[in-house]
Amino acid sequence: MGTLAVYPGSFDPLTNGHVDIITRGARLFDRIVVAILVNAEKSPLFTMAERVEIARAVFRNQPTVEVDTFDGLLVDYVERRRAQVIVRGLRAVSDFEFEFQMALMNRRLNDKIATVFMMPAEQYSYISPRLIKEVFALGGRVHGLVPDMVEQRLREKVAVDQNSH
Ligand code: PNS
Repeated sequence: MGTLAVYPGSFDPLTNGHVDIITRGARLFDRIVVAILVNAEKSPLFTMAERVEIARAVFRNQPTVEVDTFDGLLVDYVERRRAQVIVRGLRAVSDFEFEFQMALMNRRLNDKIATVFMMPAEQYSYISPRLIKEVFALGGRVHGLVPDMVEQRLREKVAVDQNSH
């Protein structure tokens, strides 16, 4: 059966930092599930269907990467999938405190599941979905920081937004 890892998150949108972690995770584990949290934010920029579509398209050639959605407790989803590992990315010390809390809470909830932290490549260590959305909305360049498909979709969203004003 091998080791199944779950990489959970909001992915609104998927960044090249996420892609880097998923690619590294796919090398380390037999299979990795990108698990997108339903209703993580009250008003996400990308719909659930769009986030799933983008992640599936980006990893279409990697059969050991699966894209799924989940709601409720992460550990319940991980258990349901019979996965052994939760993967989270750590960019900087500032990520550590919250990630540490989540990892320990998840371990308290289910001691059989381990959280594994992975560092993205340095060039992605400062990017986050929130910054990508803000920079793009204000006219900044995000090329190279997100998959091309995400950049294209961001452009389409801005165009729709401008037409409706
Ligand atoms: O991309 P994000 O927003 O950093 O991901 C956060 C996520 C989805 C991993 C976290 O919010 C989560 O696991 N939510 C599911 C509900 C849950 O299990 N909460 C308790 C975590 S200790």
